[in-house]
Amino acid sequence: MKISVIGTGYVGSVTGAGLADLGHHIIFVGRDQKKLDLIQSGKSPIFEKGLDELLAKNRDRISTSTDMVSAIRESELCFICVGTPSNADGSIDLQQVRDVSVSIGKGLDSDDQYHTIVVKSTVFPGTTEGLVIPVIERESGKTAGIDWGIASNPEFLKEGCAIEDFFQADRVIIGTNDQKSRHIMESIYEPLKVPIYTTSIRTAEMIKYASNAFLATKISYANEIGNLCKRLDIDTRDVFTGVGMDHRIGPDFFRSGIGFGGSCFPKDVRALIAGARSVGIDLSILASVLKVNESQPLRMLSFLHAKIPALHGKTIGVLGLAFKPDTDDIRESRAIPVIDSLIREGAEVVAYDPMAMDNFRGLYPNIRYAKTAEEVLSSDAVLIITEWPEFENIDYTGTVVIDGRRVDAAERSAGWYQGVCW
Ligand code: UDX
Repeated sequence: MKISVIGTGYVGSVTGAGLADLGHHIIFVGRDQKKLDLIQSGKSPIFEKGLDELLAKNRDRISTSTDMVSAIRESELCFICVGTPSNADGSIDLQQVRDVSVSIGKGLDSDDQYHTIVVKSTVFPGTTEGLVIPVIERESGKTAGIDWGIASNPEFLKEGCAIEDFFQADRVIIGTNDQKSRHIMESIYEPLKVPIYTTSIRTAEMIKYASNAFLATKISYANEIGNLCKRLDIDTRDVFTGVGMDHRIGPDFFRSGIGFGGSCFPKDVRALIAGARSVGIDLSILASVLKVNESQPLRMLSFLHAKIPALHGKTIGVLGLAFKPDTDDIRESRAIPVIDSLIREGAEVVAYDPMAMDNFRGLYPNIRYAKTAEEVLSSDAVLIITEWPEFENIDYTGTVVIDGRRVDAAERSAGWYQGVCW
């Protein structure tokens, strides 16, 4: 099929490259010509393992455009992959989704070819039916489910292994209210030979939020139990090895530490709380999940103060700035609240991250950035924020370390060591 992908961020670029690899002809649609030129040359505009290779391998099936209306007219199906950032109250900003829906409507009004519109952006349950469909119907004068198809198809791509998550998905979720859209969507994903669960549009939208919010809950739960285990001199990693052996629970996402970052978990949990509040429902568990996540990084400071009561003028090293390893993404990184506190207390911060320093420098131009991890070790104390594999190959002898992610080499060799919840 000829498919247009609107949005060339993490989700759009991986989705388009994956669909091209399945044999479809992809038009990447965006506003940034530089990003589009990169994609056309077989290079990814973002860092994602394997994405360059996938784009380069499928170059002859990839084109790009800044003209959304014409891209819609040239394609039979369109994935909406634009961002839905948080508003101040936690609800999602739908401006990009609204603008794209207007353009799609304009694209549909001129020809009788049947188009299927797929919402892959993470939108609160009810948004596709409450916003996307009415706007497209108004702009096109055509009826959803009759003149054109509509589906929700949320993404479950983890940064750093998004290509793998595309091709070896645990499941593909398709939400449709008409049979034709359902069959078209199932035909797209059938070649992956992974489980496909088809349901209603708003159920699919909710599955996305409920999944991410549950994973975030697992993490905050592991962190709270970890805080208690540390006080009782119990190893939290051993506890969750035993807990995870229950097939009803499972072992994943129980790594205790300084909490979750990234562009999804914090945003999706806030959006679910705000959306629920707007319909009079209080999600008290998720409110606590966020509260734990906000306080967990600051536990590092309490352990640091135990060792160095006055931080003013002291040099504090930070190992890791990305929100997790294998990415240069710093959105909601747990390094942000930690470094904010260090700066407030007058410490001199020297940071190292194998990939994320350029991005972090944009936020914090006035802290020092080291060329190597070893350079950071001469600080008065070192805080480990991201568990990059290379941090396991460092000799921490004689160093004061407060570890937020459990780097075993530090636990073995540091001169003075505290784990944040172990
Ligand atoms: C997440 C979801 O996993 C993915 O399904 C969704 O589509 C997008 O959001 P991502 O944000 O890329 O993916 O990263 P993920 O690997 O889920 O980690 C998120 C955060 O949780 C990171 O900051 C990570 O350090 C933290 N984490 C993860 C823990 O603290 N403990 C864990 O056990 C797992």
